[in-house]
Amino acid sequence: MQKKTYKIKAWGCAMNLSDSERIKAVMRAADFKENNIQPDVVILVACSIRQSAIDRLWWQIQINSQKPIDNRQGILKRPLIVLTGCVLETDKKKFEKLVDILIDIKKIEKLPVIINKKSEGVKIIKQLSNSATDYNYFHVSPVRDSKFSALVPIMTGCNNYCSYCAVPYTRGREYSRPAQKIIKEVENLVKNGYKEIILLGQNVNSYNGRLDSKSKIPDTKQIQNFKFKFQNDVITFSDLLRSLNALNGDFWIRFFTSHPKDLSDELIKTMKECDKVCKYINLPVQAGDNATLKKMNRKYSIQHYKKLIGKLRKSMPNIAISTDIIVGFPEETNKQFENSAKLFRDVKYDMAYIAQFSMRPGTAATKLKDNVRKEEKKHREKILTEILKKTAWQNNKKYIGKLAKILVEKKIKNGKYFGKTESYKHVMFNGKKNLIGKFIMVKISGMVSFGLKGKIINT
Ligand code: SAH
Ligand code: SF4
Ligand code: F3S
Repeated sequence: MQKKTYKIKAWGCAMNLSDSERIKAVMRAADFKENNIQPDVVILVACSIRQSAIDRLWWQIQINSQKPIDNRQGILKRPLIVLTGCVLETDKKKFEKLVDILIDIKKIEKLPVIINKKSEGVKIIKQLSNSATDYNYFHVSPVRDSKFSALVPIMTGCNNYCSYCAVPYTRGREYSRPAQKIIKEVENLVKNGYKEIILLGQNVNSYNGRLDSKSKIPDTKQIQNFKFKFQNDVITFSDLLRSLNALNGDFWIRFFTSHPKDLSDELIKTMKECDKVCKYINLPVQAGDNATLKKMNRKYSIQHYKKLIGKLRKSMPNIAISTDIIVGFPEETNKQFENSAKLFRDVKYDMAYIAQFSMRPGTAATKLKDNVRKEEKKHREKILTEILKKTAWQNNKKYIGKLAKILVEKKIKNGKYFGKTESYKHVMFNGKKNLIGKFIMVKISGMVSFGLKGKIINT
């Protein structure tokens, strides 16, 4: 019999990309073959962070529902549509009528069996419930898209309930993977030549890994050095970084995302002292105004946030800092927005992810009025983008004429390649294919909008 085929379409953050790599592994193990043109099964991995992502999901469902496929079994007239990932309760109710299978990402290992049952004519099977509390799906060894950069979730879910945010409702409560599992995974990745380890979590600063009594501490010399910490019951993010940093090999460690309320002095010290930990931090501020931060339930003030920026820069003078910010939060006045603009001018970010507020059903923000007009949101986004362009340009200037180590990522066009510095600066240079996935040294020779230009000085 011909193999069944599938296609994955994912939206949202790196967590969803990482989950997609696990879905691939599950499908491959069940003998399904990837086919992006005419798949028997389309797996949609949703993101609910903004309405626009949900609108795109809706379109995909429409397109795939109308697409007739080459029907070998004589049962389906179109691909089977599977919905997983981050979906809000209200949307689940809408989408369940439109898709064939709804499945909680935590139960993804069951998907092939469910697909086969469904193909035999079983009616809709609903397996999407965020109340599932077993996280065995993290045991699935992912089929990674990259041979040199690896996404490694260290936790999932969130307990913070920022008033605008869908994540606590789609991913459930915070769960930290046992430290040994993470260390073992990273150790294997590094042995297999991975150069960049990206630790993922909605709030990595609150990582709280406990010993998993069932799994043994990996038996390596380096990790033995930290055994004393692991014998205590709680392993902090800082402990985890130090133990990963102690692994042998030439590799970088990055992490996303940090919450300003949980960024400790200890973590700043760890970042400084660990040579493999990249001197780059994404520290989402979300608003530059204390009254707005309060309504957002962020639990810190702008004064506290700026103090953190000061500490980070004092401790690591070359650190690059990025942020996430929302414009047009309900009831945000011009004056309050001006405080966000002022913060941007003061902090001088290297990068920022600026989002226009989008009301998410079921969140606390629904009690407020979404009264900033779309045009005004756009205008505020533009103002922050303009400030960012200037500060990023100013910050990038200091790299000119200096040497930088970069990890080569890909070819852009004829002869032009692109890589990143540890400070997450994009560098364009004339290169060769065999450099992809390798560390090289470049001399920074110029700038392009948000990035840099460089020349290879050795290979
Ligand atoms: N855990 C991270 C953020 C995860 S969500 C943190 O605590 O900062 C990624 C980004 O999406 C957020 O930083 C925020 O800027 C944006 N975002 C979240 N909800 C949003 C909403 N309702 N409207 C617009 N942007 C939103
Ligand atoms: Fe959302 Fe806030 Fe949790 Fe980040 S910390 S995922 S913004 S609720
Ligand atoms: Fe979206 Fe879920 Fe990430 S809602 S931003 S995919 S955690």
